[in-house]
Amino acid sequence: MQKKNKTISLKTNSGSFELDVKEATVGPNVIDLKRLYSQTGLFTFDPSYSATASCESYITYIDGNEGILEYRGYPIEQLAELSTYLEVAYLLFNGELPSENSLEDFRANVKANMVIPQQTKKLFEGLDKDSHPMAMLTTAMASLSSIYHDEIDIKNHEDQKKFFFNVLGKTPILVASIFNHRNQTNIGQYHEELSYSENILSLFFGGNGEYKIDPVFAKALDILMILHADHEQNCSTSSVRLTGSSGTNPYASIAAGVAALWGPAHGGANEAVVKMFGEIGNKDNIPKYIAKAKDKNDRFRLMGFGHRVYKNFDPRATIIREECHKVLNAMENDDDPMFELAQELEQIALKDEYFIERNLYPNVDFYSGIIYQAMGIPKEMFTVMFALARTLGWATHWCEMQSQPSLKIGRPRQLYLGEQRRDYIAIDQR
Ligand code: CMC
Repeated sequence: MQKKNKTISLKTNSGSFELDVKEATVGPNVIDLKRLYSQTGLFTFDPSYSATASCESYITYIDGNEGILEYRGYPIEQLAELSTYLEVAYLLFNGELPSENSLEDFRANVKANMVIPQQTKKLFEGLDKDSHPMAMLTTAMASLSSIYHDEIDIKNHEDQKKFFFNVLGKTPILVASIFNHRNQTNIGQYHEELSYSENILSLFFGGNGEYKIDPVFAKALDILMILHADHEQNCSTSSVRLTGSSGTNPYASIAAGVAALWGPAHGGANEAVVKMFGEIGNKDNIPKYIAKAKDKNDRFRLMGFGHRVYKNFDPRATIIREECHKVLNAMENDDDPMFELAQELEQIALKDEYFIERNLYPNVDFYSGIIYQAMGIPKEMFTVMFALARTLGWATHWCEMQSQPSLKIGRPRQLYLGEQRRDYIAIDQR
């Protein structure tokens, strides 16, 4: 519940102004700057939005100093341990935990949408099997807007719900189609008795009818999906919100989120991390790469390290590191060289002044690839796996935003530093 507004005074050369302060349930309050320009003639300058709250939201809370992440108020540690991805999906979308019956209805609604249209199936034929899976996902997601458009009233709650279930049902099929298109294999079957994450494994690997789902992999995948489900106003979610604020097609908004996630500073980091481990090769080379990461003349960064918000630790990385142990132990591969290299790299970096001073810690992307790789998912697919899980967060934010009466088109301003000229001469006279 939002509390009563306070005010703050701002002194400028032209006078003193009162600005409202909006109070958060928990976490930093915000200064309401909506009237700043009309009152003072000034804009604010915050190019990467590191000090700007772009919206009001009830979905996810992060305390970066304390390493806290909560979905609808529940700590991520509890959800990862005790919940399932679909239960978390219900929670994010509805704001409350489900009863057994309501979860069953929810699951049936998702399942009813786990089929992709013929046009989308055909689309893959036109995509090179070696093109990047995130390029394929951006295209495939955007293509849904060519099918689901005319009948959607984005302000209608029932239509929002239809979109939510449709995108939650279809994304696993799109992602599994991409995986199988790359491998030129057949997509597996959906099985009624399997969980959402078990079905994802079945769709990926079950096409030849011989795949047996390992419960350790299924549990690990479900945990990864929960951890990646939402992260409040990150780059991709903000892209979905900004795109959606114009009233455009919701699938086109999600495609914008997929495109934003692809970059190595965001979800693309999980692929970049495993590439980096390969480049480092063995533990002896770690000091060389630490030195490169610290060298300001070198563009190399320690991938999977650092975060805009977390300045102590990323709670998701802690859970994933633990899950790596479980998965590799179950595979009797405790001394997996990549995992050993990753842990050694983490230990060395965490003792280094450069990383200590800048509060740089492993983030969600540092260890996740080790689990995906153990499951047989190649590194080029890692960011697609992230997108598969995050689609839930994107769709939830899109629905929240469309339901908010305060929604206006997003339109930042700028600090103009270019020329202003009055000496134009027609081309034939120059
Ligand atoms: N390796 C080396 N130095 C780093 C790193 C890194 N991974 N991350 C930040 N720094 C340094 C940076 O050079 C700067 O140093 P200085 O103050 O001397 O100029 C300082 O730390 C602050 O960095 P910043 O770039 O201003 O911080 P930011 O909040 O803008 O960037 C980040 C956050 C995640 C983009 C960045 O830490 C990074 O590039 N990390 C590697 C890529 C990565 O793992 N991305 C995944 C993020 S988590 C999942 C997700 O968002 O999807």
